Amino acid sequence: MVQTALLQLRARMLLLVFLFALASKPFPGAANAVPAPVLDISGNKLIVGVDYHILPVFRGRGGGLTLSSSRNKTCPLDVVQEQQEVFHGLPLKFFPVEPRKGVRVSTDLNIKFTAATICVQSPVWKLDSYDDLIKQWFVTSGGVEGNPGPETTSNWFKIEKYDDDYKLVFCPTVCSFCKVLCRDIGIYIVDGKRNLALSDVPFKVMFKKAS
Ligand SMILES: *[C@@H]1O[C@H](CO)[C@@H](O)[C@H](O)[C@H]1NC(C)=O
Repeated sequence: MVQTALLQLRARMLLLVFLFALASKPFPGAANAVPAPVLDISGNKLIVGVDYHILPVFRGRGGGLTLSSSRNKTCPLDVVQEQQEVFHGLPLKFFPVEPRKGVRVSTDLNIKFTAATICVQSPVWKLDSYDDLIKQWFVTSGGVEGNPGPETTSNWFKIEKYDDDYKLVFCPTVCSFCKVLCRDIGIYIVDGKRNLALSDVPFKVMFKKAS
């Protein structure tokens, strides 16, 4: 008797949970309206203004991302990958164009190293102007944080899903009428340094919360 009553109660609760799940499902099409949040290697959403390391997914080909003098120039420092896998590089923060929406894929964001450097320029990522000598577009620092618009297109990057991990892209949409580049970011080796540069071979990355 008691068992039957319990079973009935359980069945009713399951039905309730099912109905609730149906009711809370977004309308068809709405799923595409908001891009997915970017997750760190622990499966947690990236938080705006919190320190992370960007790490390579493939092993044995360098470590995390840092700032370094490269291309025979010092300031502003270039964004490069650590030579050795054991080094996680410098912590950095993500600042999306609309911070309250969180860090999401396919969304314009500024990337800013937390560390101070020897250079007066800011540690905000920026796509440098075309390097005529090496014939590449490199990612450097000295960018401006915020102020989305035609003057700041070179400071906005995006994170995109890439297989089970992520890649970084330069494809700013902070200016609707600007004609801008739209390409993946990969690694280009200059005098032994693993520089970040626009590339046809994306650099597969993951995000680890800095401790
Ligand atoms: C940097 O300078 C060295 C020595 O002058 C030269 O061999 C090398 O090619 C230069 N590298 C670049 C990327 O200009």
